[in-house]
Amino acid sequence: MTFDKKQVVYQIYPKSYKDTTGNGVGDLRGIIEKLPYLQELGVDVIWLNPFYPSPQRDNGYDVSDYTAVNPLFGTMDDFEELAQTAKKHGIELMLDMVLNHCSTEHEWFQKALAGDQYYQDFFILRDHPTDWVSKFGGNAWAPFGDTGKYYLHLFDVTQADLNWRNPHVREEMFKVVNFWRKKGVKGFRFDVINLIGKDEVLKNNPNFDGKPEYTDRPINHDYLKMLNQASFGQDQGGMTVGEMSFTDIENCVQYSNPNNKELDMVFNFHHLKVDYENGQKWTLKTFDFEELKTLFHTWGEGMSAGDGWSALFYNNHDQPRALNRFVDVKNFRTEGATMLAASIHLSRGTPYIYMGEEIGMIDPDYDSMADYVDVESLNAYQELLAAGKSENETFAIIQAKSRDNSRTPMQWDASPNAGFSTGTPWLKAGRSYPEINVENEKSGQIFTFYQTLIKLRKEMPLISEGVYKAAYQDSKKIYAFERQLDGQKLLVLNNFFPENVTIQLPADYQTGKVLLSNYDNVELTENLVLQPYQSLAIHLD
Ligand code: GLC
Repeated sequence: MTFDKKQVVYQIYPKSYKDTTGNGVGDLRGIIEKLPYLQELGVDVIWLNPFYPSPQRDNGYDVSDYTAVNPLFGTMDDFEELAQTAKKHGIELMLDMVLNHCSTEHEWFQKALAGDQYYQDFFILRDHPTDWVSKFGGNAWAPFGDTGKYYLHLFDVTQADLNWRNPHVREEMFKVVNFWRKKGVKGFRFDVINLIGKDEVLKNNPNFDGKPEYTDRPINHDYLKMLNQASFGQDQGGMTVGEMSFTDIENCVQYSNPNNKELDMVFNFHHLKVDYENGQKWTLKTFDFEELKTLFHTWGEGMSAGDGWSALFYNNHDQPRALNRFVDVKNFRTEGATMLAASIHLSRGTPYIYMGEEIGMIDPDYDSMADYVDVESLNAYQELLAAGKSENETFAIIQAKSRDNSRTPMQWDASPNAGFSTGTPWLKAGRSYPEINVENEKSGQIFTFYQTLIKLRKEMPLISEGVYKAAYQDSKKIYAFERQLDGQKLLVLNNFFPENVTIQLPADYQTGKVLLSNYDNVELTENLVLQPYQSLAIHLD
């Protein structure tokens, strides 16, 4: 059986969810404590970012042991209790598998460094580095001890890329997935999984920092088929998603079309680069609505036509909060949060909610560089200064773009540290927590709107299964699409601007039924006025 398209996923960054020990770091028991809350929200699956032993140089994406629990987060018993208790709440777990690279503290790398040839072949070692740029800044190669060779690290220098061409590496990776499957886990999120298939001969490429040379290589699809067969492909149900960096529709259709037996669905990030100047992240730019709309339409229709499947999201642990990027959050936080939610939850794909999104959390608004801890942000800060930017400009960029924006403690209540921890949090809580917190928001408009969206997807095959058609493609303000299934239709209109916008509603929809809106008293007339950040879904059956 393939995965259940009625399901909605909720992402938890364990480090920042709920600390039960007072050490300032969230833990697995904290997640157990909050399961009733998640059940009330209505989500089906929780994706947990890595909680495995790790030096935490990249917050757990630098894994030093794939089949254990980092004591920082608890014990294997805690994990088992979490998995069992979650099931009782109707929730499945999805674990994060970081199979493209491991920490240089992993015993494989340590043995390789000590001269063990078997393990040297686990890594990508070359006599001459290519010109590729690491995604965290600087050249992507570092000296491999004093051997005169270099090892590849597409991310931090402590995250060494694994050599998937070596069958022993693949076996080890399959074992990792199977270890967690034996514990009853059926959901997997595969980190940067479209980068695992490197070519035999690695070539220089000054374009896009070298990305075309190591991304979406044909052999990547072969490796995913092998992984599928050797592990999760044997399960009934479950859900798999691959994080695809710098990808395209053609490859994403291949990764996620059920006939190919690779993955259930894919994340892509093109829509989250519409506020990058010249494609560069560390810049300041108001988001380009035209670009966002066009990307949603081409991906929505392309994936639909190729029978691929997308994970739908605006927020995750690598992105600043969407409310700060796409919405006039000072004046329209509630309207904006609900509009953004409708624009993906009613679309074709599987919606992902990132912790705190359901209560309208915003960026922390830190006032000093000392508050940031993310390795990518700290590197970028140095690089921007070195490139001649002023201190103020640099700080403004970090403030807007840092990954720490979404990693701040979950805001539970107005008590110190947002009710996250009684100790000193590893990352400071956002300034907004006295107002924006679960206690205040749970009966409020945003949370209840999310509950409704999750419920509608379960009740209506039109939402979970319908095809995607772009609508109002020429609109400068409205992102709209239609869903169609067995003669039924749903028109979803989303006003992305803080002002009224009038549109012409086709005659058939004027007789339709308002399925959902984030404003009251909607009348379906020919000249329809959408209010600031209004979202409106009209059903025709
Ligand atoms: C993915 C993760 C990110 C991590 C990187 C390297 O993009 O989401 O947090 O830093 O991979 O593992």
